[in-house]
Amino acid sequence: MEANKLSAIPIGLGETQGNSVLANCQTSTFNPDSFRRSRTEKSQWESRNRMFILGMGFVGQFFANELKKKQNWIVSGTCKSLIKKKELEGRGFDVHLFDANDPQLEILNTLKSYTHLLVSIPPLVGDGDPMLQHGQHLRTTLMDGSLRWLCYLSSTSVYGHSDGAWADEDCPTSPISESAKLRLVAEEGWLNLAYDLGVSAHVFRLGGIYGPGRSALDTIIKQKPLSNGQKMRLSTQYTSRVHVEDICQALDASIYRPSSRKIYNIVDDDPSPREEVFAYARTLVEKKWPSRLKQSVSPERAESLSQEITSRGEKRVSNAHMKNELGVRLLHPSFRSGLLSIFNQMENPFP
Ligand SMILES: NC(=O)c1ccc[n+]([C@@H]2O[C@H](COP(=O)([O-])OP(=O)(O)OC[C@H]3O[C@@H](n4cnc5c(N)ncnc54)[C@H](OP(=O)(O)O)[C@@H]3O)[C@@H](O)[C@H]2O)c1
Repeated sequence: MEANKLSAIPIGLGETQGNSVLANCQTSTFNPDSFRRSRTEKSQWESRNRMFILGMGFVGQFFANELKKKQNWIVSGTCKSLIKKKELEGRGFDVHLFDANDPQLEILNTLKSYTHLLVSIPPLVGDGDPMLQHGQHLRTTLMDGSLRWLCYLSSTSVYGHSDGAWADEDCPTSPISESAKLRLVAEEGWLNLAYDLGVSAHVFRLGGIYGPGRSALDTIIKQKPLSNGQKMRLSTQYTSRVHVEDICQALDASIYRPSSRKIYNIVDDDPSPREEVFAYARTLVEKKWPSRLKQSVSPERAESLSQEITSRGEKRVSNAHMKNELGVRLLHPSFRSGLLSIFNQMENPFP
């Protein structure tokens, strides 16, 4: 049991590389210094909060960085490929390989020595949530582990259509797409698991996520053609979105307000048409770097697209519970302040 915990300790407690407890355990000759050091590291490990992030994607990496700035956190996570693992390790992260299409379930033993678990891997179409597929194994393994907080990142897509009405967490869900249906099943699965384990559980229904390196500004600057999904979303009247910094604020707040089975919408105050977001982003870029952009989708073109493409679920997602119960004060209540802050930190992308 204790050995399991030791073998899961990230090298250098996730901050510096090289003085691994695992390495000490594997030393064949007895060395009192390394023995003393491993005991010290073990007690350091046990005295600190330990976050495991299943899926070190955009949000996962951003949140891991935020936690690393704090004193008392050890952070580890997963990604699918060796290339990405090396890249993330180069940036100081402790990373494990985990690909749900070829799952290595040793990851469960690793997981059990962490106090906090953020689940950021989306459900796989056809298969559902990759970890919950091993629900019983997960439950048994974590039952005698250290976990005390769990958050599952879901999506506002679970609400489906509501003709522009406001949707809060008490509104009935009505997912339309296959992935939204799987989201709902996964939400329930993670909440049930957390209940059985007796740990704090939150589900965050996220709006469209944007932040540095992933925003309308980046799409415009890179002058990429719009994907079908983007074209479809151009035609919607209301799209909920949230800046990644505000997701991190909400995660932080939920850690310090433990509760069971709480679901929160994590969105900004300003559900607006994507077309408006792109127009604003374009204005920012053109003002600073005039004549560097080719013509892209204009509002007129967007309008014709909206006639070509059947409109999607129109809903305005309410963030009142997030504000009132988690006490989150949005850094970016609207896409305008969010995009402006990203823009102000941008190096010249047209050297
Ligand atoms: N993007 C949005 O606007 C939006 C809106 C609402 C909800 N969400 C959901 O919120 C969560 C966080 O969003 P995000 O934008 O940070 O996601 P993201 O950047 O796409 O990251 C997803 C993470 O899950 C991992 N992953 C994906 N498929 C996997 C599989 N088959 N096996 C193992 N790992 C797998 C990815 O691994 P790699 O790192 O190796 O790629 C990545 O680390 C995701 O569940 C996302 O679907 C996103």
